[in-house]
Amino acid sequence: MDKLDWLETFELGIPSVDADHRHLLNIMKQIETAANAAKFETCKDLLDELVVASKNHFTREEALLEETGYPNAAIHKDYHARLLSRAQSVKDVCKEIGTRENLKDCCHEMFEFLIDDIVKGDVNFKSFLEEKGLIKRS
Ligand SMILES: [Fe+2]
Ligand SMILES: [Fe+2]
Repeated sequence: MDKLDWLETFELGIPSVDADHRHLLNIMKQIETAANAAKFETCKDLLDELVVASKNHFTREEALLEETGYPNAAIHKDYHARLLSRAQSVKDVCKEIGTRENLKDCCHEMFEFLIDDIVKGDVNFKSFLEEKGLIKRS
């Protein structure tokens, strides 16, 4: 998946957040490999891992936004909650799938939510943190 490769080079410039995003990306790549090999059980375990890791990441990110006084912290928190519940439902669908192609499509659908956070959602607070001098301007 080209998007995953591209994402590897994408950085917000906030080391703790970038490290989390890379961790999520790493799990997505493992899911991709498992789905390609039609390893259904491995894929299921990794999908669980991805949701847990996302949840933890969102919690850490929300704490950072609150600490720094980001004015839209509550909005971003709601956005995370929505992404997570959608990801949960797609994950449940993925777990029921028995064919390789469908599994791949379903996994990709799950990635969309998380990629949305990284490249669309989080970009919104990047400039705020830059203005506050908390991260270096890129
Ligand atoms: Fe994020
Ligand atoms: Fe986020």
